[in-house]
Amino acid sequence: MTKPLIAANWKMNMTTGESVTFAKRLAEEFARLEDRDVIIAPPFTALYPVAEILRNSGIHLAAQNFHWEKGGAYTGEISAPMLCDIGCRYVLVGHSERRILFGERNEEVNKKAATALAAGLKPIVCIGETLGERESGRTFDILARQIKEGLNNISPDDIESVTLAYEPVWAIGTGKTATTEQAEEVHRFIREEIGGIFGKAKAGETAIIYGGSVKPDNIAGLMDQPDINGALVGGASLDFESFAKIIKY
Ligand code: PGA
Repeated sequence: MTKPLIAANWKMNMTTGESVTFAKRLAEEFARLEDRDVIIAPPFTALYPVAEILRNSGIHLAAQNFHWEKGGAYTGEISAPMLCDIGCRYVLVGHSERRILFGERNEEVNKKAATALAAGLKPIVCIGETLGERESGRTFDILARQIKEGLNNISPDDIESVTLAYEPVWAIGTGKTATTEQAEEVHRFIREEIGGIFGKAKAGETAIIYGGSVKPDNIAGLMDQPDINGALVGGASLDFESFAKIIKY
């Protein structure tokens, strides 16, 4: 089984100064944790100074997005080799805010996942249903499609470097967490789908993390579930004390 993985997604928040202060505290309190992986995804502007602070701390750095081309005339974009160059180890792919606000489809998610892997970055591929999709009984169909199309042509050797983040869109930033039973039911389904594509052994080694209003008071219940391997934390990761409690759940 994979180590518990606790990831912070700061979204479009935190100045460079705030990010540096946070990262220094994190490195002081949680350097070289043996029993879990901690990842932070600051905004692009803070990646480089935060990378310098986290170097050798055992805490990993993630970017929130990137473009699948290696370089060239793509004004405003950042490539996977650029992220590797400054010490990023992970990258979020297909977050629901990217899908809904910026039109990313499974096709782009797939290009990004494949490009990240080829560049040596570990993609955290986000999937999840909207409230309307859940209420109309389409949760599992939507997820199956996001998995099949998002991970199209990824080799079984690479799947262990992929983390799946199940983030029900209706639970993101709303304070409504999926119940532990709802989350576990979906995580079990995701693992079965991964098993169907990549084989059962690989599915057992794939980290499937939960995101959507994770807080210090609900993390332990979620982490108790057999198919939940970690958490992707938005709002509660912006406050050091609350993120520290989540790490220490
Ligand atoms: P939230 O965000 O914890 O604020 O719900 C999670 C996410 O969007 O990754």
